[in-house]
Amino acid sequence: MKRRSFLKGAAVAGAATLLPSGLLELTSACTRKPASAQGWNFDEILDRSGTWSIKYRRAEGDKLAMWIADMDFKTDPVVSQALRDRLEKDVFGYTYGPDEFFEAIAGWEKSQHGFDVPIDWVEYAPGVISSLCQVYLTFTEPGDKVVVQTPVYDPFFRYANRLGRVAVENPLRWKDGHYEMDFEGLDRLYDKRVKVLVLCNPHNPVGIIWPKETLSRLAQWCAQHDVLVVSDEIHADLSLYGRHHIPFCSVDETAARIGIQLCSPTKAFNIPGITGTAYAIIPDPVKRQRFHDTLGNAKLREASIPTLVATIAAYTHEPVWLEAVKRYIEGNIACVENFFSSHECGIRPVRPDASFLIWLDGRALGLPQAELVDLFNEKAGVVVNNGAGYGTGGEGFVRLNVGCPRSIVEEALRRIEAALQK
Ligand SMILES: Cc1ncc(COP(=O)(O)O)c(C=O)c1O
Repeated sequence: MKRRSFLKGAAVAGAATLLPSGLLELTSACTRKPASAQGWNFDEILDRSGTWSIKYRRAEGDKLAMWIADMDFKTDPVVSQALRDRLEKDVFGYTYGPDEFFEAIAGWEKSQHGFDVPIDWVEYAPGVISSLCQVYLTFTEPGDKVVVQTPVYDPFFRYANRLGRVAVENPLRWKDGHYEMDFEGLDRLYDKRVKVLVLCNPHNPVGIIWPKETLSRLAQWCAQHDVLVVSDEIHADLSLYGRHHIPFCSVDETAARIGIQLCSPTKAFNIPGITGTAYAIIPDPVKRQRFHDTLGNAKLREASIPTLVATIAAYTHEPVWLEAVKRYIEGNIACVENFFSSHECGIRPVRPDASFLIWLDGRALGLPQAELVDLFNEKAGVVVNNGAGYGTGGEGFVRLNVGCPRSIVEEALRRIEAALQK
């Protein structure tokens, strides 16, 4: 409660006066406007019935839905207000991506990640994974190899294979309780068919914000082997504990030359249902032109009105709501950590540097994977993601989404405890 009234006090009038007068007023983030005065309540249990929620479709009865990566919070009120204001115009004709969209993105990269992005490096991208597919189609031939560093977000390898490319795994190394990239593994797997490496930065599901040295070393390795790096940075704006995300293309000239960043406000602002909301940052002009042409030829270069409005609104205001949601997520993670450190039960959370997904290490339970998943999904009634779905290295783990009210996290822990005791 105290936290909420503090935040209400901290929020300053803004959106209501700013946005109705039109998006023309929204300039670069250098002139970022203050946040909405409407406040928020992350403890509120949302009723998602009637919203066609994918998350709840897989959580029958009284099961808790703690799997797919959206949060059970309302979005930033500034974003909602911008969408409402735009809807009230009742005009939904064909729309171009205005300069404000690109300026908002460049301003955000600078203010949040310290990355100077000239506007012409930014391309609209129709969703992160659909754009990743376009990268595969543009920069590789059927039979070419795409490296993924498992355990990792499964569409990276699923779509590579579906498109006739060959996903090859370079599993992360588990060392002294944390993950590292395996550079010797890269040397071992390399052959001339390797054309793309997909980096997850920050990494889903293990939650790492990759250190600059690792990114720089990766850039060197990929440059030497003529491998394009696609860096999925969808979780970048959710860095926790004062950590700083490092955009891949900002690392050095080599990374900028060989890298394509795919980014989006959908995770941080909890708007993934506004599909097609993403952008690419491509410093190299030749790669940028090829990506641009591919999208244009497939008629994929047109952003929807909600995409434009939500992105501009999210990225041109002080991120007061975002900071608050990150603090709340840290509180939820603490709850999970405290529970498992006081209950010696064979499950250990891997603390994420970013985002609201916790990688739970259940290897000490010694259960076959199907039984581990059954323990959560059926015995406890807490629907999680099966770690094995993320490729090699995912066995023995599940992924728990704690982007939800604290009372849900507490209830999930009670249920897990009861299921373990049975
Ligand atoms: C790492 C990562 N990339 C991409 C996505 C999905 O992005 P999009 O909905 O824009 O395709 C997710 C969603 O969970 C994700 O975790």
